[in-house]
Amino acid sequence: MAGPLKAEVKKAGEVDASKLAEYDLIGFGSGIYMGKHHKNLLKLADGLPKMDKNAFIFSTSGGANENFKDHKALRAKLEEKGFRIVDEFNCLGWDTFGPLVLIGGFNKGRPDESDLEKARQFAARVAGQ
Ligand SMILES: Cc1cc2nc3c(=O)[nH]c(=O)nc-3n(C[C@H](O)[C@H](O)[C@H](O)COP(=O)(O)O)c2cc1C
Repeated sequence: MAGPLKAEVKKAGEVDASKLAEYDLIGFGSGIYMGKHHKNLLKLADGLPKMDKNAFIFSTSGGANENFKDHKALRAKLEEKGFRIVDEFNCLGWDTFGPLVLIGGFNKGRPDESDLEKARQFAARVAGQ
C-alpha cells in the first residue's frame, strides 16, 4: 500500500501524534487478535488528539472479516477523534494462533500475490479520493 500512496510506514509505538496533522490521509492497520486490531494500535488511537482528517483501516486476519466487523473497535475510536474513514481493506493472513501452529497454521502463504495486488489497487483508489 505504501507504494501507490507514497506513504511513510510506522509502527504504532513510533508514531508522534503531534506530527499526524501534517498528513492528508492516514492508514491504520494490523493483524486481528480476538476480534480487534493489535492493542498497540488501539492504544495509539486512544492517545490521538481530535483531528479533522481522512483515514483508512486495513487488517490481515485468520478468518473472513465480513463487513469489516473486526475493524469496529478501531473505527469507533478513530471516528470519536474526528477521522473520516474513507475505505477499509482486509485479507487473510497466516494464522498460527495456539494449537494451529502444530499443523503449520491456517492460510500459509497469505497474503499472496493476489492479495498484494488487491492491496495495491485499494491504495491507488484511496490515494485518488
Ligand atoms: C493471539 C492471536 C489471536 C488471533 N485472533 C484472531 C481473531 O479473533 N480473528 C481472526 O480472524 N484472526 C485472528 N488471529 C489471526 C491473525 O489475525 C492473523 O494471523 C494475522 O495475519 C496476524 O498478523 P501478524 O502476522 O501481523 O501478527 C489471531 C492470531 C493470534 C496470534
